[in-house]
Amino acid sequence: MGAKYEVRGNVAVVTLDNPPVNGLGYDTRREFAAGIERAEADAAIAAIVVTGAGRAFSGGADIKEFGSPKAIAEPNLLTLIRQLEGCTKPVVAAVHDVCMGGGLELALGAHYRVAAPGSNVALPEVKIGLIPGAGGTQRLPRALGVEPALNMIVTGEPVKSELLASVPGQKLFDQIVTGDLLDGACTFAAAKAAEHKNNGKPLPRVRDLKAQHPNADAYFQFARNMVKGMSKSFPAPAKCVDAVQACLTKPFDEGMLYERELFMALMLTPECKALRHAFFAERAASKIPDVPEDTPQRKVEKLAVIGAGTMGGGITMNFLNAGIPVTMLEMKQEALDRGIATIRKNYEAQVKKGKLKQDKVEQRMALLTTTLSYDDIKDADMVIEAVFEEMGVKEAVFRRLDEVMKPGAILASNTSTLDVDKIASFTKRPQDVIGTHFFSPANVMKLLEVVRGKATAKDVLATVMALGKKIRKTTVVSGVCDGFIGNRMIEQYSRQAGFLLEEGCTPQQVDRAVEKWGMAMGPFRMGDLAGNDIGWAIRKRRYQEKPNMRYSKTADLLCELGRYGQKTGAGWYDYQPGKRDAIPSPVVVEMIERHRADLGIQPRKISDEEIVHRLVYALVNEGAKIVEEGIASKASDLDMVYLTGYGFPLHRGGPMCYADTVGLFNVVQTMKKFAANPHDDASFWQPAPLLARLAAEGRTFS
Ligand code: NAI
Repeated sequence: MGAKYEVRGNVAVVTLDNPPVNGLGYDTRREFAAGIERAEADAAIAAIVVTGAGRAFSGGADIKEFGSPKAIAEPNLLTLIRQLEGCTKPVVAAVHDVCMGGGLELALGAHYRVAAPGSNVALPEVKIGLIPGAGGTQRLPRALGVEPALNMIVTGEPVKSELLASVPGQKLFDQIVTGDLLDGACTFAAAKAAEHKNNGKPLPRVRDLKAQHPNADAYFQFARNMVKGMSKSFPAPAKCVDAVQACLTKPFDEGMLYERELFMALMLTPECKALRHAFFAERAASKIPDVPEDTPQRKVEKLAVIGAGTMGGGITMNFLNAGIPVTMLEMKQEALDRGIATIRKNYEAQVKKGKLKQDKVEQRMALLTTTLSYDDIKDADMVIEAVFEEMGVKEAVFRRLDEVMKPGAILASNTSTLDVDKIASFTKRPQDVIGTHFFSPANVMKLLEVVRGKATAKDVLATVMALGKKIRKTTVVSGVCDGFIGNRMIEQYSRQAGFLLEEGCTPQQVDRAVEKWGMAMGPFRMGDLAGNDIGWAIRKRRYQEKPNMRYSKTADLLCELGRYGQKTGAGWYDYQPGKRDAIPSPVVVEMIERHRADLGIQPRKISDEEIVHRLVYALVNEGAKIVEEGIASKASDLDMVYLTGYGFPLHRGGPMCYADTVGLFNVVQTMKKFAANPHDDASFWQPAPLLARLAAEGRTFS
């Protein structure tokens, strides 16, 4: 598949044809160029229309070719654009549905552009840490105007074609075609051919337009300040401003060279690498090695949720938002009433913020029914259990589900710590059982860990992955283990945070260091938010299961004081009633100092760098074990878990990507230094075999 050629009257139509979005891959470019050449050479052809097959004009570069020699092989995109510009016959781009990135840059090479209404037009390169690299920054401001173009380039967000066509003085779209696009484009092209034949005027090129701004210096100063505030850790947005400004200060060809220079420099930055990594990791997460993409799926049109508490309510909202009816089941009517009230309250809050219309709330609430009886849910295609985190309670629920649910129904548990295989064993259909581990608040958090039991059927897994996509979650598969991917790693991070307190840090010093580095929240503020009692319960279990595993006692001492976190008004920090601001607590500082004295530790000043590395490398080392054990099928899945579930900074690409950036050899060297610290735990810093091997071979996780 590449490009198609057809003739309509005296107009040649060259159609990009590379599903799903006509990515500008090598074969497509080659066949497209050949089509243009053929049209130019045919004396019977007076004009050329270029367009895209199916549901897109073009989505831009072919992501399958990213980073490969094919991506830049001739004819490359710049060559195609030059070819269009240089045609002696009018070239009209017929834009529809999706016209993004390189697709838009290609269209800007045409002499004229017409568009179907509702087309999504964007230059989204900034989202992967780049600026447009094939003239987008030089041509769009000339065609559309400096300000609207810069807005599009700096945000990367799509704008509808009819809105763009209404910008005063714009030359981006010559016509919005409301009827059949191709008919309209061909008629337009034939008319232009006749017009040029008659008047002998040269064909218009975007590069010849003059970019103008009445108050350029002040405007760009303002734009720079705005971008600085918004983009914080990312260099690309500021470079978008520089590149667009060059439209006003440099001749076109020099502007193009400048754009290229900025593009190449950005390509090498760690931020760009991290964003590209995240972009591909997100796509890769939905691919499971032994579950082919064409695995048949079960239908999920009706859902049941057991338990209308914190998680049950949030989970339910996801499905209502996606138009899937849900029946919530509880033990008591009061619990149902509370659950419904919370859901409505959450929706109303969105209405107040202007994010949701009232009629949408009613539509969604109408999809919700409640019951106290299993009889009312037996026809559901899938049920998600979100009852108390106790094996006995889960056992009773799953035994009952096994009795009543129709054959083939998917039985999911939202357990955060329990063994999904054990839960499956309570039924006679373990192949239908799976874990769906949502994060709190479940209606907000992007991450969904899908826990694959040893008996989980492939079609169940494929169905739940697709469902995750439907409810717009980032869905990552985890095998069964204690804590699954995310919480298993965070336990090691928390252990290190505890050791840091013993050695001389305060909670706020640790939090500040990692937050400055980019984490949304440091470990102690996070503990206060989630509830320190949760970790306490886990540690009590660990003291039995793994008596040799070392933990700092500080967190236990804190819980013994009843300081569970925000919910008790006090945790690692103090809280004022109704507020979430973490106020350093003298009581906690004294508690830590006393404990330190009991241990006979002389406090030392610990650098921010050491704090960050100890916490992040704790994640990396456990992550390496998770990959090696096959709990995750690839390291990038762990990065997605951390980017979407734990507030890990996007510009670092996730813990495993960060370790790759630092260099695994360097990570291991630093871990050796930590192991030599008598107050740390030497066994903690034994590099996981996978990490040691990759470091020794000079390789990376990705
Ligand atoms: P919750 O205590 O807020 O809600 C549990 C609800 O289940 C209560 O409304 C209770 O009445 C109901 N329930 C208990 N036994 C039942 C039964 N036999 N039949 C029907 N309803 C029953 O608990 P939460 O926080 O919503 O947790 C639910 C599950 O989600 C647990 O497995 C928990 O580990 C897991 N989870 C919790 C997260 C959190 O941050 N709260 C995060 C991820 C998972």
